[in-house]
Amino acid sequence: MNDIVSALKWRYAPKQFDPAKKISDADLASLLEATRLSPSSFGLVSWKIIVVTDPAVRAKLREAGYGQPQFTDASHIVIFAAKTALSGADVDTYVSELAALRGTTNEALADFAGYVKNAVASRTPEARTQWAARQAYIALGTLIAAASTMHIDSGPMEGFDPVQFDAILGLEEKGLTAVVTCALGYRSDTDASALRPKYRPSKDDLVIRM
Ligand SMILES: Cc1cc2nc3c(=O)[nH]c(=O)nc-3n(C[C@H](O)[C@H](O)[C@H](O)COP(=O)(O)O)c2cc1C
Repeated sequence: MNDIVSALKWRYAPKQFDPAKKISDADLASLLEATRLSPSSFGLVSWKIIVVTDPAVRAKLREAGYGQPQFTDASHIVIFAAKTALSGADVDTYVSELAALRGTTNEALADFAGYVKNAVASRTPEARTQWAARQAYIALGTLIAAASTMHIDSGPMEGFDPVQFDAILGLEEKGLTAVVTCALGYRSDTDASALRPKYRPSKDDLVIRM
């Protein structure tokens, strides 16, 4: 079996993590680097990843996360946050950095900048945040896949109150809003959910060929 397929068959979303097992700094760095390499629309990275280690903050997240134990027991909790006020200025910053990286000028990228600015301007503020959130979900997928290849457990979680998360993490003043979280660490030996067969639609049901 292909390595990525066997890694994804190994993974599941644990309900119980082993609080004693911690991800090493080197492995965490690899996971964050894999996440950083996630693609995004136009390459305009409109999200941030927040790594929460403070136990007191994690206790508050658990409360705002409907008491889910993963928030306190997993080795690490990451929160994907979408930018709430994407603007032409973000595009200018991006295009300037891109020009410098590629050894070209802002003028040479002016048409591209125009397309991207139009993609931002043509959306309502709510639609911009939704667009940013979609890019964050792609990054979540990249993180989950990367973790599975390293046999590190990952539990994506949308079960939390984003208003409370934003307040706990001070995200509003950073121009961000929490969209999805992921617990990272190692499954507990006693996690009953590990034994559940993995449900997925069959290939025939899922894949439409034309
Ligand atoms: C976006 C997203 C949000 C999720 N939110 C939660 C959650 O809040 N709590 C939880 O226990 N599982 C959550 N899950 C885990 C799913 O229930 C799980 O991935 C799904 O049932 C498939 O099972 P598997 O990941 O174990 O293969 C979430 C998964 C995704 C992708």
